[in-house]
Amino acid sequence: MTNKILTLKEYFQKYDESVNDPKKFWGSIAESHLWHKKWDSVVDWYFGGKDAPNVKWFVNAKLNITENIFERNLPQRENQIAIIWEPNDPKQKEIKITYGELFQKVKQFANALKKIGAKKGDRIAIYLPMVIELPIAVLACARIGAIHSVVFAGFSANSLSDRINDAQSNIVITSDGVNRGAKRICLKSIVDDALKTCPTIKNSIVLKHTEEKINFESPRDIWWHDLIKDVSLENKAEVMDSEDTLFILYTSGSTGKPKGVLHTVAGYMVYAEYTFKNVFQYNEGDIFWCTADIGWVTGHTYIVYGPLLTGATSVMYEGIPTFPDAGRFWETIDKYKVTQFYTAPTAIRALIAQGSEWVTKHKLDSLKVLGTVGEPINEEAWKWYHDLVGKGNCPIVDTWWQTETGGILISPLAGITPTKPSFATLPLPGIQPVIVDPDGKILEGNNVKGNLCIKYPWPGILRTTYGDHQRCFNTYFATYKGLYFTGDGAKRDEEGYYRILGRVDDVINVSGHRIGTAEVEDAINQHPKVHESAVVGYPHEIKGQGIYAFVTCEKLTDEEKKNIENEIKNTILKEIGAFAKPDLIQLVSGLPKTRSGKIMRRILRKIGEGDATNLGDISTLLDPNVVEEIINGAKVQIKK
Ligand code: WT7
Repeated sequence: MTNKILTLKEYFQKYDESVNDPKKFWGSIAESHLWHKKWDSVVDWYFGGKDAPNVKWFVNAKLNITENIFERNLPQRENQIAIIWEPNDPKQKEIKITYGELFQKVKQFANALKKIGAKKGDRIAIYLPMVIELPIAVLACARIGAIHSVVFAGFSANSLSDRINDAQSNIVITSDGVNRGAKRICLKSIVDDALKTCPTIKNSIVLKHTEEKINFESPRDIWWHDLIKDVSLENKAEVMDSEDTLFILYTSGSTGKPKGVLHTVAGYMVYAEYTFKNVFQYNEGDIFWCTADIGWVTGHTYIVYGPLLTGATSVMYEGIPTFPDAGRFWETIDKYKVTQFYTAPTAIRALIAQGSEWVTKHKLDSLKVLGTVGEPINEEAWKWYHDLVGKGNCPIVDTWWQTETGGILISPLAGITPTKPSFATLPLPGIQPVIVDPDGKILEGNNVKGNLCIKYPWPGILRTTYGDHQRCFNTYFATYKGLYFTGDGAKRDEEGYYRILGRVDDVINVSGHRIGTAEVEDAINQHPKVHESAVVGYPHEIKGQGIYAFVTCEKLTDEEKKNIENEIKNTILKEIGAFAKPDLIQLVSGLPKTRSGKIMRRILRKIGEGDATNLGDISTLLDPNVVEEIINGAKVQIKK
């Protein structure tokens, strides 16, 4: 396979080349892609100016990413399985779709989209369960040059409508319902709710999946199966500029509403394929399985684009890890002889809690590589994964990256980079991380700890936040001049290995879901009886971090007090989605605030950690007494 590193020595060589001459390095990798016209220059960029970031890769080149999946890989992969779809219900039959078949379906749906007027540059919202039509819809958008904006199907109607309105989407693609373990959720009714406040939507395309009865509003609503009837299978891909937008994906930050992280065609394509091949060391005949949802970036890059660009065969799973029982992952690995398995630490911890017998009764002898993503993995979970699932034979790739980075930035190359539990290890070729102190001074050498930044662009870096470039600058480039700031803390140990220490901003990571504390607070404050709230993350055995909300309310009767917690949780359900429900809610008479009115989250974070010994100086608080009250009523065990 082209562009695949095979030894540690080669990794170090490539790494040096990529730093010494990034243009030559990435230019040579991009040679293996299919272009209508090649680039005039490999990269033009600056991180420093006021309108930063300004990043262009493969300048003025022309291409279509789906031609790199299909036309480039066909005809030799015509009959090779592209995706094996494993249904939620194990009694239902799987679907195996070849590259040839997938191509037909993508062209057909691309033509169907055109039939209702979709065109290059439109923002198309996709709100679907993990069904085979989800990657088909994504790729059909890319085929015609429309910008896909996939919204995870666990988001509420309000969150969906916020995303549709921010992107001014004209079409939404959804289904009647979704199967999640033993539960069935009527997705279409959530969309109906959302669309009450989405004036830009002209059509919603509805896939029949769970077959439940839904409300159907013609001519706005169109069945997927009706739309593709009599549609031609011939389709010429739209020729795109390298820097045309491929997709937007919304993600949470420390302030305000989620922002639309924007990725462009060529750079993202080159980066997705390169990182997929190298990190997972994919070989012909391997079966790759990433358990993420396509609603998050992990699914975009390592279910859809990375594997399909590479011409890989991968598994896509509709359901959840514990349905019908805690052996589902391991059973499925045996069923399809999965070779590379990529999941989140939170899933591993949840399965550890169910007992080892679920794992040991399966063979798991096809596995060669294990991966983790989304949050730091603790040593205990790492060891269990390594010893029990991998039988001590499979390297673990702890992959660190973000929605904004498009693909993996720091990770071992499977079987090549020596691993160390809880370390993401070394940067991939082309990635130049630096660790800075609070003043932005770059800390040279090893054995340093601080904030993680990247000083040179890579092809997969975000280009802007949709509709608000200033916000992109403020979030990522204003903190340290000339550097991309990740929001994560990190240390570099004596060997030069990176260990990610978690977010240093007001973002929390709950079961690998990135949630802004401000977003949760805004949602809680929607409850009519709530005055104010402050939300922090606290250590949670399974989820990594749990959500701890401190809330002040108007005077409540005893009856109201009993119900308020549930009511607050329901408010979150309505405003964001079930995954953002607080684990702990503490009613308090006041929040710890400075005299200027700023909430001292630092103090609440300490309390959430169960540590009241070291709260720092609280004398500057408006009302220092509330701290004592909060400690006494804390919902976690406090050591004083
Ligand atoms: C944040 C990004 C990357 C795709 C899924 C999440 C945390 C991610 C790791 C890791 C420690 C990690 C970081 C990062 N994170 N991977 N291997 N070790 N932390 O994407 O939702 O954009 O979240 O996830 O804090 O900033 P995301």
